Amino acid sequence: MDLIELKRTFAEIPLSQIHYFDRIGSTNSEAARLAEAGASDLTLVVADGQTAGRGRAGKSWSTLPGTALAFSLVLRVPAEDRAHYSQFATRYTALSALAVCDALDQNYGLDAHIKWPNDVLVGGRKICGVLSEASWLGDRLQAVILGVGVNVLQDGVPHDDEVDYPATSVEQSLIDSRESKITGRNTIDRLVFLKEILSHIIGRRPQLLQPEFIRTWEQRLAYRGGWVEIVTLGQDNVVRGQLVGLDLDGSLQLKDADRKIFKVSSGRVSLREVENQDDSTSVFSSS
Ligand code: BTN
Repeated sequence: MDLIELKRTFAEIPLSQIHYFDRIGSTNSEAARLAEAGASDLTLVVADGQTAGRGRAGKSWSTLPGTALAFSLVLRVPAEDRAHYSQFATRYTALSALAVCDALDQNYGLDAHIKWPNDVLVGGRKICGVLSEASWLGDRLQAVILGVGVNVLQDGVPHDDEVDYPATSVEQSLIDSRESKITGRNTIDRLVFLKEILSHIIGRRPQLLQPEFIRTWEQRLAYRGGWVEIVTLGQDNVVRGQLVGLDLDGSLQLKDADRKIFKVSSGRVSLREVENQDDSTSVFSSS
């Protein structure tokens, strides 16, 4: 991967700037620095390797050179949308996760789902994580930084005992897929894949604030109709419910054993599937 190759591959995508690093701490931190310095909409920061990549809830995210995609995209928020940002913040995370699902599905025939709020799963294993962060100047929202990390090659995938959710790669998923067994095609070019993800982000962005966006996101939700457990990290709060869908603000709608609908907002939460829990009770307040 190098800047010349990136510029050639992305020639048709309307990016305003591309910043490439062989090695960097975190592309999100660099993109936030650039946004503060006035970087324009659709500025892209890409790294081959990250030494201090950041994940959600203060977790670290390692990116071994040559194995993964680690990039951050600066999206300037139109003035008229700034006041409503808190209501739509989760949609930015979903925009990236949906773009990764669309690329995996449409370009590689892989069935991908979103483990709310920010993970992309293939075959029940995590293939991608998204960290979207707001960049503020005082109390004025400057930009949203979409940070995306994808396990492309199996070499960069952590073992199951090193992570709190089992992981996989695009490479392994392609090898395992029925389609590749038929076509024999199971390789992936990182830059082409990045181009495909960026095209999907840019293509879907105009729908971001539309109600249909929520319905599209909902159709990609992992475990929909199934029972899930949501843990609020750093606290003892555990809530179980049947995953119904999404609210307009991107909160998760769950149904408890008494068929009462309640909401869980994103934040420091982690979700996993559980066995059918008809006798479960909620510790979150109902709404
Ligand atoms: C998570 O699953 O917790 C989110 C992981 C997000 C990692 C990406 S890699 C590119 C960008 N730069 C960062 O420091 N983090 C995001």
